[in-house]
Amino acid sequence: MAQRNSNSGIDDLKSQLNIVDVIGRVVPLKRAGSNYKGICPFHSEKTPSFIVSDQKQIFTCFGCGATGDAIEFTKRYYNLDFMDACEKLGKEYGIEINFQKSSDSKEKEKLYAINREAARFFYKALTEKANPGYTYMKKRGIDDAILKKFGIGYADREWTSLYDHFKNKGIDDQDLIDLGLVTRGKDGKCYDKFRHRVIFPIINASGKVIGFGGRRIDENDIPKYLNSPENAIFQKKNNLYALNTTKSEIAKESSAIIVEGYMDVISLYQYGVHNVAASLGTALTENQARLIKRYTPNVNLCYDADPAGISAALRGIDILAPQGLKVKVFHVTDGKDPDEYAKAHGRDAFLDLVKNAPTAVQYKLDAASKGLDLTKNEDKVEYLKLAADILRRLSPVEMDVYVRSLSEKLKVSERAIMAEIEGGSTAQPREQAPLPSVQGESELFLSSTEGNVISALITNPDLTEELFSEPDIMESDFAVKVENIIFELFGTKGEFELDDITDRLDPEESQYLNEVLGGIHLAGKEEEVLKESIKKWKLDTLYKKEKEIVARMDLADESEIDQEIIRSITEEFIRIQNDIKKYGGRE
Ligand code: CTP
Ligand code: MN
Repeated sequence: MAQRNSNSGIDDLKSQLNIVDVIGRVVPLKRAGSNYKGICPFHSEKTPSFIVSDQKQIFTCFGCGATGDAIEFTKRYYNLDFMDACEKLGKEYGIEINFQKSSDSKEKEKLYAINREAARFFYKALTEKANPGYTYMKKRGIDDAILKKFGIGYADREWTSLYDHFKNKGIDDQDLIDLGLVTRGKDGKCYDKFRHRVIFPIINASGKVIGFGGRRIDENDIPKYLNSPENAIFQKKNNLYALNTTKSEIAKESSAIIVEGYMDVISLYQYGVHNVAASLGTALTENQARLIKRYTPNVNLCYDADPAGISAALRGIDILAPQGLKVKVFHVTDGKDPDEYAKAHGRDAFLDLVKNAPTAVQYKLDAASKGLDLTKNEDKVEYLKLAADILRRLSPVEMDVYVRSLSEKLKVSERAIMAEIEGGSTAQPREQAPLPSVQGESELFLSSTEGNVISALITNPDLTEELFSEPDIMESDFAVKVENIIFELFGTKGEFELDDITDRLDPEESQYLNEVLGGIHLAGKEEEVLKESIKKWKLDTLYKKEKEIVARMDLADESEIDQEIIRSITEEFIRIQNDIKKYGGRE
């Protein structure tokens, strides 16, 4: 069966790393018996309960429960995904990792490298001698250190500066055209796309330059911002500007401030607000919501204080909240956008706005009252209808809180408001399950269990219900994506065929799915296969947990850990044993 990423390189990497060294580089460790002890970097504590075992090559924290191997540590400590963590470790320790890369990802690597070189070229143009880009940024009050931090550059007025640079390096025209760095004129020649603009490189969370935004310097030029076109490595909807630089601050403060523009980020950052990223003028997408969620559940939307900004905020709430993110919304109270506000009032004033920002629900309620005069009865009635539509979607507890405050504010009984909510217009059906969308640069891979489950469901869609209560069984990004499509189709139509699924996938994804499914023959045993797969997954998960807990028990014994903690670990161990028995394991 086609399997596009191989793990053999990872095992090599693991065998050559020493976890004590990996962790010791960033967390001071002291010897404690046969282990090492330190202050846990994943929660705040005064006395060390973070243990690293040389022998077992694992870390575990008896305070917060964090545990894992050197790769897991690197993932968590630096907020990286698995592949990036391996890559970082490989680089640091000079260990070559042979991921079997598909031709597709080699193609992408090539494009990343070109963009990186272009970013360097623009950066040099801005920093190495006097130029209008530098003058412009200075006029806007941006320090040299910030220009450097964000790699800001300048594209000059000539027609082929960048193109000539790449020609000398032997880069193909077509690659430069695909990346939107050059364009072919009617005369068949290539010309630079970005000219006389300040260049903001757009870098994804893994540190790859995926595109550029170019701001005009001459206010008569159109458009104000010229952005890279969508291509194999740049999808606006999958990224947030500056997240590569700000993600660790976002995680550390457990709060993200999302703004509209490049300059908002740059300016806030310079004034000392570092947990910030930009959606680049477009409505937020679900993938962006998931991306933020990797670092924090708390999102503060701060869009421009114009009608477009208000409507983008309202749409943004409906994207973020269903992902389980806690959303607050505010607009700057002076000036057009956060950039102007930060410049005029500084960091503390801005942070006050963040602190006092209304919750998403309150923001929606306030927005609904715009243009209405709540001292007039007819407007009050109108407003209560709108408010009921908003509150109808809340959990009972939330609803209670807002109903109470509305009742006080409007002098209308809570019962009447509840009646409006319950009986009122049925105009708004519950929000539809969002359509699954393409995950940025997810690896195309299905495990054999995942392949079997998908195959069973396609042959016998009625089995889909069996899976509703066990969705965690899907682990790879691609399996989750296919599963979401299946749930969606089943939920709306009650049935589906393979074609319905492949219609919603990229050509490459659908080819891969077909390849995998072509190699699976369940021969009428779909139901058994599904049940077996669920059982096997449950047991695998339990065995994994069991292994973890045994290691923790050993370590706790060796490290003079609190009796109370040992007792709770033992209890968990017993629970796991019972579950293993329940699912028919180890018989
Ligand atoms: N934008 C864009 N293309 C445009 C205008 C705007 O892509 N023609 C995006 C940019 O990412 C921009 C954001 O929308 O940063 C917000 O637009 P706007 O408020 O017009 O720009 P500012 O960020 O305020 O830019 P500046 O301060 O440089 O005027
Ligand atoms: Mn602005």
